[in-house]
Amino acid sequence: MGVETRESLGALSPWSPEFLAAIVESSDDAIIGKTLDGTIISWNRGAERIYGYRPEEAIGRNISILVPADHTDELAPIFERLRRGERVDHYQTVRVHKDGKRIAISVTISPVRDEQGKIIGASAVGRDITAQHEATKEALRMREEFISIAAHELRTPLATVFARLQLAERHLARPEIDMAAVLRDVVLVRQSADRLRLLVDRLLDISHISSGRLELEKVDTDVADLVRSVSSAFAETSGHAIRVNAPQPPEATRASLDAVRIDEVITNLLDNALKYGGPGDPIDVDVRADGAEVSFAVRDRGPGIAPDQRERIFQPFERGDTKAPGVGLGLHVAREIVLLHGGTIALEAPPDGGARFVVTLPKDGARS
Ligand SMILES: Nc1ncnc2c1ncn2[C@@H]1O[C@H](COP(=O)(O)OP(=O)(O)O)[C@@H](O)[C@H]1O
Ligand SMILES: [Mg+2]
Repeated sequence: MGVETRESLGALSPWSPEFLAAIVESSDDAIIGKTLDGTIISWNRGAERIYGYRPEEAIGRNISILVPADHTDELAPIFERLRRGERVDHYQTVRVHKDGKRIAISVTISPVRDEQGKIIGASAVGRDITAQHEATKEALRMREEFISIAAHELRTPLATVFARLQLAERHLARPEIDMAAVLRDVVLVRQSADRLRLLVDRLLDISHISSGRLELEKVDTDVADLVRSVSSAFAETSGHAIRVNAPQPPEATRASLDAVRIDEVITNLLDNALKYGGPGDPIDVDVRADGAEVSFAVRDRGPGIAPDQRERIFQPFERGDTKAPGVGLGLHVAREIVLLHGGTIALEAPPDGGARFVVTLPKDGARS
């Protein structure tokens, strides 16, 4: 919005009736004047936009044309308050468009007085909040869905824990204890407990991120060093070969970042490359410094990811058709962490096959 200076107003005085009328007329909000019996006496462009009536269709009619049948009892108490000289502030309700469509609206209604202070009518300033309402409803719906999927995901390993503990109880109650059978039960209980822990950790991550409580502890870090150390630890525990291709100092691969969180991102990508990549093929990790950014890429030689799946796999709980262990939150959490750093995560499909995930981070740790 431009700032009007006194000069640009020209001959128009800021308090002239013309100027005030122009403000009302150009408002995006519906501004309606009415008498105390509800007759509409003024109707701006915002009102026309929100309610669909042209000024000549609205002026002279009763304000009740905007009130849906199931809300008609709202009007009397509002007029009662106006007569007492009270305002109704940011009242959220439903109104109806000329074409019959319902509109969520936030309205402030104030008494209008004449020069003697006598209340002669009212002004109503209404704002269409249908879009916000829909967005809130959608957010709530998504949260419900998220909770229900999460609960379902937690239940599956929990069911295994119970079933296996029950079996172990039975095995241990026998006079001749079959140690091999008990061991099998214990192993399955531990595997399910592992899965539960992973799920709970990831859910906590997500909850921290989405509530803005995940505080990044950024320190000046050499990304090449971090990638090398995470990769060699991962190679050791998994027994899978990882080739790191990173520039040596003095190449500037330092960035301000939360090393614990970025470690999590690298580990998630390596874990996927291991699970979904070709079993014998090495995983390639490249680190690159480029101006104000540092990037690292994790590349495997597996089947890659079909174009129509490339966005979906970043959504929570979205998993491919796979028997590999996992809960479908790794990429989601990785992307959230990268976004918190002001970076990006991209998925490339190299021409000679496989998947390549590229994480790019700003060196100065912009956007904390
Ligand atoms: N490197 C990869 N190659 C092929 N598919 C992958 C790769 N990384 C991820 N995916 C697909 O994306 C899905 C989601 O990955 P992720 O969020 O890490 O969850 P999870 O590994 O627990 O399934 C995986 O189930 C898999 O189908
Ligand atoms: Mg994963």
